[in-house]
Amino acid sequence: MTRHAPPAALVVMGASGDLTSRKLMPAIAQLHAGGFLPAGFTLIGCARTEMSDAEFQAKVLEATPKGGKRWEKLVTRFRYISGEYHHETTYIALSQALREADEKRGTSGNRVFYLATLPMVFPTIVERLGGTGLNRPGDGGDFARVVIEKPYGHDLKSAGELDETVHASFDESQVYRIDHYLGKETVQNVLALRFANAIFEPIWNRRYIDNVQITVAETLGVGHRAGFYETAGALRDIVQNHVLQVMSLVAMEPPARIKPEEIRDEKVKVLKAIEAMTPHEVIADTVRGQYAAGTVDGEKAPSYGQEEGVATRSKTETYVAAKLMIDNWRWEGVPFYLRTGKRLSAAATEVVLSFKGVPHLPFMATNARDLGPNLLIVRVQPDQGITLRFGAKVPGQEFKVRSVNMDFSYDETFSEPSPEAYERLLLDALIGDPTLFIRSDEVRQAWRICDPILTGWTKARGPVHKYKAGTWGPKAADALLARDGRSWHDPVDI
Ligand code: BG6
Repeated sequence: MTRHAPPAALVVMGASGDLTSRKLMPAIAQLHAGGFLPAGFTLIGCARTEMSDAEFQAKVLEATPKGGKRWEKLVTRFRYISGEYHHETTYIALSQALREADEKRGTSGNRVFYLATLPMVFPTIVERLGGTGLNRPGDGGDFARVVIEKPYGHDLKSAGELDETVHASFDESQVYRIDHYLGKETVQNVLALRFANAIFEPIWNRRYIDNVQITVAETLGVGHRAGFYETAGALRDIVQNHVLQVMSLVAMEPPARIKPEEIRDEKVKVLKAIEAMTPHEVIADTVRGQYAAGTVDGEKAPSYGQEEGVATRSKTETYVAAKLMIDNWRWEGVPFYLRTGKRLSAAATEVVLSFKGVPHLPFMATNARDLGPNLLIVRVQPDQGITLRFGAKVPGQEFKVRSVNMDFSYDETFSEPSPEAYERLLLDALIGDPTLFIRSDEVRQAWRICDPILTGWTKARGPVHKYKAGTWGPKAADALLARDGRSWHDPVDI
């Protein structure tokens, strides 16, 4: 499959928003710089904010200051349509702009609609796109696709309802549900690590692995997104999507080919093998927390309740830790410990496979004091790479052994730059490769796992543990592992 996009128009709904300027425009500029976009490419922004084409173009350039002359020239073709998402006139204007783009810019009737708006307007937009025939390619075109940002639904029921609305206008093959974690190089590298090497797969199972830990730690707080975050919380914002997606790549069975449906079939099997928790298990096997005031990166940080737009007595969780089990042949008995939080001690995303100990340690206990378990650590960010931690003899007359690291770093190994997640995914959507997008059944399975946790917390009134900003989260999360005789791997202590 060629990695160059065919002629197409990209329509960004929510074009005046934060995601568009922070992520989408820089990604498109990079794709353009890399020569991935064809001459017949153009972009139409659409949002409620009143803006002229020129003002929109200026906004795009502000978000992409290093685009260069060629990019500036391309941007002069970009159009902007302001309108309410529920007004038919908005879509009539869009159709008109798309027809003009086909005639003047050679976009050939192909369109990709990117929904970067607030999630509550997703259903309205897809309905209206369908109602005005924009769910079909224009004259002579091959495709019309819709890219939908997360969160996809608020729970299992609403995700199902959103699916119904989406499927009334678009066939599943036209739908690209985005989870930007799947666009990260190191997340994709899990597939290479597992399936391009003979040495890891034989030990990638319950016989050799003691536990798996997935950490998505942020130092940032809720920022200006309190309005959204108050209705979401860390479970919906990160676990339901990013963490469970990474988990399914780590745990899935080998696909016969790196083909969209084969990979997605295997991922969904993993999710299906996770039992929904009972309220009792929710209390025993999950921890929710909320940051209190503290210090992060040397700066004072307010408590979550003091953040702008947050209810003072809010119970929204900014931290989640959970122990999940995958009930299948490969993983029976191996806990997957997941955690994510805002305002933690360091920004780090990693997957740690912790291996079982040797059957018999032939060294004196005092000589093996500094020997920990073998670890295989996939560092997703910030420093992308893989670390293998194993025991080695400490130089000297005695037979002391100690854990040491063998490191692979992306930056040191490859001269090729890693594309940003959005770059990769936007190009995939333009090309029509859904491998790294989430299928309808995957979303539902993820909600099936998360819903009982949310209801368990509410019904059993489980505590929201406070943790000081700048720490590794609530003590209760340490206790979750200590109970099993284990502890969290500290991402900064590699
Ligand atoms: C988003 C969440 O999906 O991911 C944010 O909504 C979070 O709350 C972000 O900050 C983290 O993404 P990244 O790529 O910075 O790890």
